[in-house]
Amino acid sequence: MTSANRYLTSWEGYWSTATGAPGEIFWDADPPHAAQQDLVLFQDYVDPQLPLIDLGCGNGTQTRFLADRFARVIGTEISPTVVAIAQTKNAAPNVSYRILDVLCPGDAQALHEEIGDANVYMRTVLHQLSPADHATAIQSIEGLLGIRGILYLIELSSAAEPYFTQLIKQYGPPPGLARVFQHEITPGMLNENDIEVLFPTDRFTLLRTGTSHIYTVHTLPTDEVVIVPAFYAILRRRQS
Ligand SMILES: C[S@@+](CC[C@H](N)C(=O)[O-])C[C@H]1O[C@@H](n2cnc3c(N)ncnc32)[C@H](O)[C@@H]1O
Repeated sequence: MTSANRYLTSWEGYWSTATGAPGEIFWDADPPHAAQQDLVLFQDYVDPQLPLIDLGCGNGTQTRFLADRFARVIGTEISPTVVAIAQTKNAAPNVSYRILDVLCPGDAQALHEEIGDANVYMRTVLHQLSPADHATAIQSIEGLLGIRGILYLIELSSAAEPYFTQLIKQYGPPPGLARVFQHEITPGMLNENDIEVLFPTDRFTLLRTGTSHIYTVHTLPTDEVVIVPAFYAILRRRQS
C-alpha cells in the first residue's frame, strides 16, 4: 500500500464511522476559537480577492466561517466521505468542496491551473502526515500558492506531546482522541524550530510566526476545555 493510500484508508475509516454526536470530532472547535482567531493573525497579509483553499478541511466547520470573509473558498480533502459531509453541513454559495490529496503535487498543480494563485489555510493537517511526506505536501502547497498566495498554518507544537502525556496520565485518553487512534491515525508533532527546514528560505519567506493553541471539544471533569499547545506560521513563496 502506498503511503497516500494509507492516509486514505485511515481517514475514510475515521470519517465514515462518524455519527455526528456532539464532541465526537476532537478538534472541531467553534470558529471563534479556531478560524476566527487565525484570521486575526493572517488577515493583514492576504489579498481577500484571491480564492482561499482550506487544505484538509475536514467537515468544513472552519471553511464555512472563512467563506464570510473571502470571495471564494474551496475546501479540499483526501476523504470523499468528509467532502460529502461538508457539502451537506457547511454549504454556502461561494464555497465548494473537492477531493485533493496533498501528497499528489500534480493534482495540486492542476487545481492551480484551474483557479490561479490561491491563499492556503491549513489547520492541523501537516502533523498528521509522516515526516517523510512533509516535503511532498509542501511541494503541493507551493504549487497552489503561486506568486501571490500566502499560507497560514497552525499545528501542534513540541509542547503538545508533554501536554498530552500529562493529560492522559491524569484523566485517561479523551474519547475523541481514542477514536483517532482506533483508525490507526498516528499524529506526530512538528517542531516549530524546523519551520525554516520545512519551508527553506530559497523558496519561501516567513512573514510571521508565534505560539498559539488548538481548542478541542473535550471538557475535563474540572470543566476546563482541553486546549493543546500549538504554533502558527504565515509564509509566502519567495519573490525573486
Ligand atoms: C485533524 S483533521 C483537521 C480538519 C480541519 N482542518 C479542521 O481544523 O477541522 C486533519 C484532516 O486532514 C485530512 N487529511 C489527512 N491526510 C490528508 C491528505 N493526504 N490530503 C488531504 N487531506 C488530508 C483528514 O481527512 C482530516 O480531515
